Amino acid sequence: MAGHKEVDAVTGVETTGHVWDGDLKELNKPLPKWWLYVLYATIVWSIGYWVVYPAWPLVDGYTRGMIGYSQRNEVTKDIVAAKEAQAKFVAAIAERTPAEIEKDSDLMEFVLRGGATQFGNNCAPCHGRGAQGFKGYPNLNDDDWLWGGSIEAIEQTIRNGIRSGHADSHESAMPRFGIDQILTPAQISDTAAFVLSLSGTSGDAAAIERGKVVFEEQCVACHGPEGKGTVEMGAPNLTDGIWLYGGQKADIEETIRTGRGGVMPAWAGKLDPVTIKMLAIYVHALGGGQ
Ligand code: HEC
Ligand code: HEC
Repeated sequence: MAGHKEVDAVTGVETTGHVWDGDLKELNKPLPKWWLYVLYATIVWSIGYWVVYPAWPLVDGYTRGMIGYSQRNEVTKDIVAAKEAQAKFVAAIAERTPAEIEKDSDLMEFVLRGGATQFGNNCAPCHGRGAQGFKGYPNLNDDDWLWGGSIEAIEQTIRNGIRSGHADSHESAMPRFGIDQILTPAQISDTAAFVLSLSGTSGDAAAIERGKVVFEEQCVACHGPEGKGTVEMGAPNLTDGIWLYGGQKADIEETIRTGRGGVMPAWAGKLDPVTIKMLAIYVHALGGGQ
């Protein structure tokens, strides 16, 4: 039957002449024109693409295409551009004072972003991702500073550390009143009651009165006559209700007994001066600063 064409009675469409099972005939339905044109267009496009862009793998490489496009080149170009921009910022940070840096909004944005990254990498393990702190590790978001909250003071703390062993570290140790038997446990309990009363926590009036006497003898040298703390000694304000080591009576007794003595590592030598300056400005911005 091949070659013989006939018209299907039901549909009125010519058949191809292919017949199966005796009477199953194939109608001659060509592909729609629009479909064919799209197919031709994609073929033309792909040839153009092969010519212009890298396309075919070769034994030792690939066809590069007329314009020599390469994603690797693009990325390299981007990195070079970013490095140049960064080098400009880094030089500006090195030269300028923090006050000058704060006035330049582009530079400041770079400093805050870089500072946040460096903080996450180096400081978050102790101070927390959001610098919220933990028991014994100060919150850096509040405006309560042990060693001063100006950018310069913060920079110095970061550079040299606290009881870090660095030659220029912040030093000063609260005496171990219990361990070294300077005060009896009863006196420590009374003094803790007095300390709590400074931030408005009530307690046994007689104990507070006895504790006040001990405080005036033993504690004002560092914490000040009103218990507001002194930055020179890194002695915290005891009146603000912000506690580094916890504000329960037991926490405060433990502090008086042991003196605590928190250690913050020195970062000089581990981080470069520009990074330390960026961190100081970042931390200062977190707390609102002084
Ligand atoms: C190993 C833990 C640790 C790491 C890491 C650490 N710190 Fe500290 N940091 C401390 C401790 C503990 C203190 C409080 C010391 C004390 O009791 O006086 C402190 C105190 C500070 C202070 C002083 C706060 C104040 O009130 O004066 C600043 C500022 C500070 N850290 C910033 C940083 C920055 C920035 C980094 C990252 C470069 C960092 N710290 C990394 C443990 C750490
Ligand atoms: C030589 C100075 C010095 C003297 C004296 C001193 N302190 Fe302190 N005190 C400090 C320092 C420094 C810290 C911070 C310790 C740290 O960060 O690890 C501190 C911390 C504290 C804290 C912890 C506050 C918090 O936020 O958790 C309490 C409470 C305290 N002192 C009470 C006292 C009392 C009570 C006395 C007297 C019996 C006293 N101190 C005597 C220097 C002193």
